[in-house]
Amino acid sequence: MTRSLAELRAVIEDRSAKLGVIGLGYVGLPAACLLADARFDVAGVDLKADRVELINKGISPIEGEEPGLAELIHGAVSAGRLHASTAYEDLAGADVVLICVETPVDADHRPRFAALKAVCAQLGRVLQDGVLVIVESTIAPGTIDAVVRPALEASSGKKAGTGFHIGHCPERVMPGKLLSNMRTVSRVCGGSSPEVAQTMVALYSSYVGGELDAADCLTAELVKTAENAYRDVSIAFANQLALICEQVGGDVWRVRELVNKVPGRSVLLPGGGVGGHCIPKDSWLLAASLGEAADNSLLGVARDVNDGMPDHVAALVNELAPPTDGARVAVLGFSYLENSDDTRNSPSEVLASRLRAMGYEVVIHDPFVETYRGEVDDALTGSDCAVLMVAHSAYRQLDLAAAARVMRHPRLVDARGFFRRPELQAAGFDYRVIGVAPSAGSSAAR
Ligand SMILES: NC(=O)c1ccc[n+]([C@@H]2O[C@H](COP(=O)([O-])OP(=O)(O)OC[C@H]3O[C@@H](n4cnc5c(N)ncnc54)[C@H](O)[C@@H]3O)[C@@H](O)[C@H]2O)c1
Repeated sequence: MTRSLAELRAVIEDRSAKLGVIGLGYVGLPAACLLADARFDVAGVDLKADRVELINKGISPIEGEEPGLAELIHGAVSAGRLHASTAYEDLAGADVVLICVETPVDADHRPRFAALKAVCAQLGRVLQDGVLVIVESTIAPGTIDAVVRPALEASSGKKAGTGFHIGHCPERVMPGKLLSNMRTVSRVCGGSSPEVAQTMVALYSSYVGGELDAADCLTAELVKTAENAYRDVSIAFANQLALICEQVGGDVWRVRELVNKVPGRSVLLPGGGVGGHCIPKDSWLLAASLGEAADNSLLGVARDVNDGMPDHVAALVNELAPPTDGARVAVLGFSYLENSDDTRNSPSEVLASRLRAMGYEVVIHDPFVETYRGEVDDALTGSDCAVLMVAHSAYRQLDLAAAARVMRHPRLVDARGFFRRPELQAAGFDYRVIGVAPSAGSSAAR
């Protein structure tokens, strides 16, 4: 007989529930570790054998600064509470399974959920009666009902609601703060019934200190995609304002400082583009139900503004240092976020390919990304222009005067408003700051 949700809740509360986590990336791995740390036995499954091998050695495969994660993985593995594998059979005894795989959109901006569908096809084969399956991945509104439920029913031969239960508890982490976000930020526990939602609350209260809001799956889908689309649109506003400031002779950094003195206004920082796995696609997930009309919606237009920023940075480089024969540009920062190794949808990658297409030789440096590590001076030496794309704290140590000396021409495009302009001037740089017209008054210079 299928176990009741009350019984499932009891084994969650006494920590005897067996847990499974599918997808051991930025979301699934820390979640698996925190559950193991909360004294659950956790089986993790990922397609990538090298990742699985590292985890089983107690080593974190995530290379950016993630305070506490390396220690937590080591502790969970050595205590025998976390075991990773590539085999779905290891999930056969699980009482709760979290799905944490990637959910990108395709080139036409539409989600097709290949990874999620593949997971459902494989998980259904090993699903025991009464399991609670929780999707943590970010999904378009309606995906639990239109994709996950039918796919699991087809592969398991069981009915949702009786043979198994479904929930959606989207993650709210940022790389660099994975553990602290998971422990402290509130979560929406969307269940296919109020009882499922309450069972999810029992599970997540084992490591989440923030509020746990019970809801239905559709609400959870809408909330997650809305919170990221809101951020994308807000960044697009800052970027649009930066472009206008350049056009009219203004300085966006001074303008936002003064705008933000009005209660309720909080203009974000402009920059050279929006990257990462989540923000560039979650607006499209929220807008998915609009079909082709998504492109001309507010969300689609904001996406266009943000996607256009690497091109704008390339245009600033072109103004400062036209692509004469052998002109070389050093791009500082390749991950999408400061002090992170996450290079997914990197705006610097787009910038580098635009610059190469314009005829520049491009050298990339990033202290967190293996391919581009090394001395920043080596990247700058002989360059005709540098571009600061990512505000890695390591670049604070850059000796601007020494950098100017090793460059063929001391020119710099600051796409993050990172450097103090008087210091750039003192070091002898010819520079452009995003959102600042060359003619903008020097009284505004930070
Ligand atoms: N990265 C973030 O900061 C973040 C924040 C909030 C939400 N999310 C959401 O969480 C989800 C996961 O994101 P992520 O950053 O952890 O992705 P990721 O790419 O780091 O990890 C996904 C993992 O799933 C594995 N995988 C893919 N298909 C699989 C399959 N069929 N079976 C087993 N494993 C499989 C991949 O090998 C990979 O290791 C996405 O929906 C994302 O939008 C991510």
